[in-house]
Amino acid sequence: MKAYRIEDTENGPRGTVVAMEPDALDAGDVVISTRHAGINYKDALAGTGKAPIIRRYPCNGGIEAVGQVETSASDRFRPGDWVIVHGRGIGVSHDGGFAEKVRVPADWLVRLPDGLTPREAAIFGVAGHSAALAVHKLEELGVTPDRGPIAVTGATGGVGSLAVGMLARRGFSVTAISSKTDQEAFLRGLGASAVRTPPAEETRKPLEGAEWAGAVDTVGGPQLEWLLRTTAPQGVVTAIGNAAGIGLKTTVLPFILRGVTLAGINSDTPMELRQLIWNRMAGDLKPDGLDALGREIALEALPAYMDEMIAGRIHGRTLVTFAD
Ligand SMILES: NC(=O)c1ccc[n+]([C@@H]2O[C@H](COP(=O)([O-])OP(=O)(O)OC[C@H]3O[C@@H](n4cnc5c(N)ncnc54)[C@H](OP(=O)(O)O)[C@@H]3O)[C@@H](O)[C@H]2O)c1
Repeated sequence: MKAYRIEDTENGPRGTVVAMEPDALDAGDVVISTRHAGINYKDALAGTGKAPIIRRYPCNGGIEAVGQVETSASDRFRPGDWVIVHGRGIGVSHDGGFAEKVRVPADWLVRLPDGLTPREAAIFGVAGHSAALAVHKLEELGVTPDRGPIAVTGATGGVGSLAVGMLARRGFSVTAISSKTDQEAFLRGLGASAVRTPPAEETRKPLEGAEWAGAVDTVGGPQLEWLLRTTAPQGVVTAIGNAAGIGLKTTVLPFILRGVTLAGINSDTPMELRQLIWNRMAGDLKPDGLDALGREIALEALPAYMDEMIAGRIHGRTLVTFAD
């Protein structure tokens, strides 16, 4: 079978497409024939060696997969069942989705919910699950469409674009924040009612004009700091990503003067929450035109694609797709 396998070379971690024996895959009681594996920023960091993501070398990359059960030693899954797997160390410390087959414990699998095709589930992938968790969290903490607009940063990215689509579907007014000035039509097509570039200048003011009822931040760093300074009283900012770094400079004033909540999002959810969120993704959080948000590449095109992703030149969701 073919796999995109990441080795620790003398020039640092690097992924290449290799042939490997399925028996050499990490252990599990279910073998899945992979149909699609979405590509995430974290995969690009791992495969290019830009960050120390991989915990054990060599390791097949790919932090998610959608496919059909081929063999199962678990009575919960049968050959032919469509399943989704992400998190639990997939593509980090357990052979991941950029391979024709994946072998995992049955406990890691989510059944494909009614209302999603395998391709739609892969277009969502970890990115969609994270975006859905953020929308779920905003709603859980009382943010409703009548309270004002929601800002989404890194809006053309995988997480960002899906968050824009989901929030629009839920009736929120969405302001898409993107550095890509040529992507306004794409963002409005997803349902954004306003599109802005990130603020150019740093400010020393601890608070600025209150603009957002809530926010979904996929970028971190200065953009997250700006969101905290500009979120309205009782607003909620969800932090998902670190595309601009892991640092965060803020003051306590947004929290103690405006009652702003900073809520963390981690997509490696417990199974009960995972299934609930996937069910919502197949229902009230499914954006219009989801199918058009994905495009396919072959496994061999992954290395070049990852370089583009690190350079921030990608928009939407791209899948590595394997033949039937
Ligand atoms: N918490 C979790 O469980 C979880 C799950 C999934 C992903 N993530 C994280 O979420 C983030 C987004 O993931 P993704 O898969 O959506 O990535 P992606 O498709 O590459 O999108 C990231 C977007 O962020 C913006 N961006 C990229 N580099 C930037 C930089 N240096 N400074 C400012 N903005 C930059 C770009 O959007 P614009 O050009 O439109 O501004 C880019 O399209 C990543 O940090 C990823 O690690 C976390």
